[in-house]
Amino acid sequence: MKIGFLGTGHITSSVIEGIFKSKLKITKIYISPRNRLVSKKLSKKFKKVSISKNNQQLVDMVNWVFLAITPKVGHKILKDLNFKSNQKIVSFISTINIKEIKKYTKNNKVTRVIPMPFIGIKKGPIIICPKDQKVKNFFDKLGKTIEIKNEKVSKNFWTTSSFMAPFYQMMKTTSDWLVKKGVNRKMAEDYVREFFSALSQDSLFKNKLPLKQLVSESQTPGGINAQALTELKKKKFYKIQQKVLNSVFKRF
Ligand SMILES: NC(=O)c1ccc[n+]([C@@H]2O[C@H](COP(=O)([O-])OP(=O)(O)OC[C@H]3O[C@@H](n4cnc5c(N)ncnc54)[C@H](OP(=O)(O)O)[C@@H]3O)[C@@H](O)[C@H]2O)c1
Repeated sequence: MKIGFLGTGHITSSVIEGIFKSKLKITKIYISPRNRLVSKKLSKKFKKVSISKNNQQLVDMVNWVFLAITPKVGHKILKDLNFKSNQKIVSFISTINIKEIKKYTKNNKVTRVIPMPFIGIKKGPIIICPKDQKVKNFFDKLGKTIEIKNEKVSKNFWTTSSFMAPFYQMMKTTSDWLVKKGVNRKMAEDYVREFFSALSQDSLFKNKLPLKQLVSESQTPGGINAQALTELKKKKFYKIQQKVLNSVFKRF
């Protein structure tokens, strides 16, 4: 199978890294020339990756086209490209809906997918909407796929994907605090990475338990976890989190 990525930025790099760590049988990957630095780096690193001359040439050469451009660029360029009717289109674009993509591309085989950077290490959830067995088979090799029938529901998952940066910021704030207390930066960051990673892995290991139980099991009455949680609740930390999710949701 030949596949192509329109837009060679962060998410394209991660998906391609994941593909070459997986068992997927890909004969050729074409990437669009922009971003030049990223495309050069990818084509140098992987023999099967070639830079197309332009966007139309890429579309002409592949069975599946992955749309990995920003919404603004998508609105601008998609309508001027000629897609083939038997071509599968997989869109990573956050805020252009399926109806619009079908209209722009004059193609009915459109699936929206939400990959995240850790697809590069074949980890994490990958939302697929609507259900599509071939697309699922492809992404099953790159992470944990979750199929959503309804595009409206998938918008909720787009919204929660905005919590990557806040999650890392929480790690950074914790490590900055350790540094202020005199801990060496490297030691602080190593500790924080291990701590948050172990918590995430443990929650997967205990996937039969509701998260509410993990919250309660990780505190001793009157202990330090109970204190931290109560104080954060009092300061409306989690209410603010909900408000922020609602506000991001409005973009979809
Ligand atoms: N990053 C994520 O974690 C993530 C996750 C899921 C979905 N997405 C979605 O994936 C899309 C891309 O995100 P990203 O983070 O990868 O953004 P990005 O790093 O900014 O990549 C976008 C790429 O599009 C290129 N581009 C600009 N104009 C173009 C044109 N006319 N033709 C072809 N390529 C063009 C840019 O090149 P220049 O640098 O030269 O402008 C850049 O390489 C977005 O819609 C985003 O919502 C991202």
